[in-house]
Amino acid sequence: MLRLILAALMVLGLLAGPATAGSFTPISAEDQTTRMGRGVNIIGYDPYWQDGGKGNYEDRHFKAIKDAGFSTVRVVLFTFPHMDAQNQISETWLKKLDWVVDTALKHDLNVILDEHDFTDCSRDAAVCETKLTAVWRQIAPRYQDRSNRVIFEILNEPHDKLDAATWNALFPKVLAVIRATNPQRNVILGGTQWNSRNTLKDLKLPDNDLHLIATFHYYDPFNFTHQGASWAPPEITALKGLTWGSDAQRAQIDADFDAVKAWSDANKRPILLGEFGAYDKAPLESRIVWTDAVTRAAEKRGFAWTYWQFSSDFIVWDFANDDWNRPILGALIPDSPALSGKP
Ligand code: BGC
Repeated sequence: MLRLILAALMVLGLLAGPATAGSFTPISAEDQTTRMGRGVNIIGYDPYWQDGGKGNYEDRHFKAIKDAGFSTVRVVLFTFPHMDAQNQISETWLKKLDWVVDTALKHDLNVILDEHDFTDCSRDAAVCETKLTAVWRQIAPRYQDRSNRVIFEILNEPHDKLDAATWNALFPKVLAVIRATNPQRNVILGGTQWNSRNTLKDLKLPDNDLHLIATFHYYDPFNFTHQGASWAPPEITALKGLTWGSDAQRAQIDADFDAVKAWSDANKRPILLGEFGAYDKAPLESRIVWTDAVTRAAEKRGFAWTYWQFSSDFIVWDFANDDWNRPILGALIPDSPALSGKP
């Protein structure tokens, strides 16, 4: 009898059930952004995704992320290489993705599924449309009944062939595929030129879809954040020892983030700062100062953020030492419980 009464109350919405795996309850884009808060990009370049690949990530790393004070993981997904000639995603790969989603939810983390085939997509818009719609046609229904803590990000950093007009024509087709099975799940998308803040204004977001969160990435000044990076233009790869932290440089972050906030307020779209970081080869002291400044600037304006990244490079977790990269964690989350205790 008691169970019957409880069930009836749940149906009437008088008792809110927990937002666990297996139940989707809508949440506004604004509330979702607030709840995402502090986060980190994970697993993109890890051998975990390769067939037979052992991988470094275990359940305890998700726990460590949660315990350190993060609320969100942005899972970096290179899906295209795991699709066959008919664009079917390998079941082995999908099961690996299930484990990631389940483990993140188990540790009460928000989990962003970030489609990261941005290089392939930006080379050829037609190929991108075919493959990207195929990806979401398979991933969206797979997670349609999951907790609202699962959030979809259509495509990381469109650029090159995906100019503003092409992107504005393409993303609604992908969004329609997602909406067929997930009419109210929050979806993240950003502008062209590698999710530049300057291209948010060009995004033509559908007025009738309120479950959208806008994103931008921040690596400015690029010669500081990417000094010594092999994939940067040669003159930036050659740089070393560049420091950061003058008053003018700090003021620039405020000006840049104020402009994003103004766009967000005018367009009533909450913001995720989906990537930011200064590469490992920049002087550590300046990396700390920059990372702290960017993180605080985001928080001051109510942007959720996900640091680039947990492992591989720009690391905040050091698999070799099985511990946090403490200076970077301290810059991101100054009061992190993970920083007390061990030296
Ligand atoms: C790319 C990474 C790169 C990072 C910073 C990301 O979007 O996937 O390969 O390291 O941006 O440049």
